[in-house]
Order: sequence, then C-alpha cells, then structure tokens
Amino acid sequence: MDSTGRLRCCSMAGTRRLDGKVVLVTGSSSGIGEACVERFAREGAIVAGADLNPPARGLDVPDDVPAVSFSLLDVRDEGATEQLVADILGEHGRIDGVVTAAGVAGGGPAHMVDEQQWDLVLDINLKGTFLTAKHVVTAMLRQAPDGDGQRGSIVTIASVEGLEGTAGGSSYNASKGGVVLLTKNLAIDYGRQGVRANCICPGFIDTPMLRGVFGPGMEETRADIVHEHKLRRLGRPSEIASAALFLLSNDASFVSGAALPVDGGYTAGRDHGVTEMLGL
Ligand code: NAI
Repeated sequence: MDSTGRLRCCSMAGTRRLDGKVVLVTGSSSGIGEACVERFAREGAIVAGADLNPPARGLDVPDDVPAVSFSLLDVRDEGATEQLVADILGEHGRIDGVVTAAGVAGGGPAHMVDEQQWDLVLDINLKGTFLTAKHVVTAMLRQAPDGDGQRGSIVTIASVEGLEGTAGGSSYNASKGGVVLLTKNLAIDYGRQGVRANCICPGFIDTPMLRGVFGPGMEETRADIVHEHKLRRLGRPSEIASAALFLLSNDASFVSGAALPVDGGYTAGRDHGVTEMLGL
C-alpha cells in the first residue's frame, strides 16, 4: 500500500481475461471480495476495491499488473456510492464490471430477531446491493458499447440461502432471496442496452464471516453443513472469484439473468446416504 492508501500490484503478460476492464468490487477487504480483487488484478483488470474497513493485508499478486485502488465505503450510503462511481469514471473513463460482495451474516428465528438487526442485514445485503447496482448501471448506460454491443457486467453475490430456506435464516435468507430477484430484474431491464446481470449463490465458503458464525460449540453444526455439500468440504473464496471472473469476462457474453450456485452440490438435492450404503 502506498502513502495514499492505494494498493499496488501486478500480473503476468499473455492472455488475461479482463485485460483493460475497469471493475469495482465492494466488500473488497475480506473473504470473497478480497479473492475477487486478487484474481481480477491478475487477469489484467483495473480494480477499484471498496469496503467499510481498510484491507487487513497487502494483495497476493505479482508486481506487474495494473493499479488496484481502495476506497472506504459504506454500501448503505447512496451519496458516497454515487461519488465513488463518479471518481472511477473520472480516473478511468468507464466502468465495465462490478461485484457486490459487501455483506453481513445475521438472522435467527423470526420471534428472536429485533427490528434493528433485521434492518441492518437487509440494509447492507439488499439495499447496499441495490445502491451499488443503481449507480454502476447508470454509468454503464452512458458509455459506448463494445463491438459486441456490451456495456458492462453486474455480478451480485447472494447465497444458497437466497435459493432455499435455512433453519434460523430469516433476515439473511430474505436479503439474499431479494438479491437473486433484484439481479434477474436488472438483467431484464438493462439487457437491451447491453448490460448483463448475474447472481452467484455460493455455498458455505471458508471466510472470516463463516468462521465468525461457527464459533466454539458449533462444531457439530459445522460438520453437518460440510456434509450437505456433496463435495464434502467448504468452498474457497478463490472458487467464487473464478465464477465471478467468468461472469465478468467476454466468455459469458450470452449469460444474463442467471442465479448460479457455486456450492459444491449443496443445492443439488438431498443425500440420504443410500449410495454410501451401497458401498460407493
Ligand atoms: P467477509 O465478512 O469475509 O467479507 C465481507 C466484507 O464486507 C468485509 O470486508 C466487510 O467489512 C464488508 N462490509 C460489511 N458491511 C459493509 C458495508 N456496510 N459497506 C461496505 N462493506 C461492508 O464475508 P464473505 O464471506 O467474504 O462474504 C462476502 C459476501 O458473500 C457476503 O455478501 C456474504 O453474505 C456472501 N456469502 C458468503 C458465504 C460464506 O459462506 N462465506 C456464503 C454465501 C454468500
């Protein structure tokens, strides 16, 4: 990080899947967002990271990739979000993609959730995604399309908990279900203008958020959850970044409106142990 708070990093020459693209990542200081910043920078993107908290560490990237900038941002603050997008446009002239990874855990059975807790989760996870998408898409609509008619790609991060219910999920599931449908609507409303919108629905990913949820005493629940993933493990942040990279890249030029589970088979269906009983 240099004296202006900017992180500097780099990547290898050759075919890079986001060469020259300008990409905003919210929630960039930790977990999935941080992995996205590192992967996109390696793939040649100019990355603008934004988070409520500064990055805890430098990025794990070679020294020859484009600059990565960081801004403090509360995704609930519309004025600050609008200003950040304006700053990106001022510096780079366009914005080609966004990944909305800022989010918080939360929830509980409805009768145990107080209004403030509900509002916090909905405000950050759902309204924050809306505000980021709103100002990014506004900018995308003003920029010229590329040769393929594309103006930009929006990637939101929901959850498997936005696709199906989870015990005690309440506000978290409601927020993530909202993100799934908001994203589909973005795909419908802006497709004609060349803006694609897709949603990634991660399974349980080994990040600081998850480690915070499964504290001491939660070992059995954690083991049950690992078992629900048919690959029998938690996901890695880099595996979500790989999916986001695909959705931002031109490889996904005909992909829009998808809610893509990246979940090790978590939502594939129930596993009642029959195949194990049969010796598989
Ligand atoms: P994390 O806690 O490691 O990172 C989240 C980041 O968001 C943090 O850096 C935090 O400072 C930032 N953030 C929180 N509130 C913010 C705000 N108001 N404004 C700006 N930044 C804010 O969490 P993780 O696991 O990387 O989660 C990223 C996204 O992925 C979240 O939306 C989460 O709900 C979602 N997700 C995570 C899963 C998991 O198992 N870790 C599973 C499915 C979805």
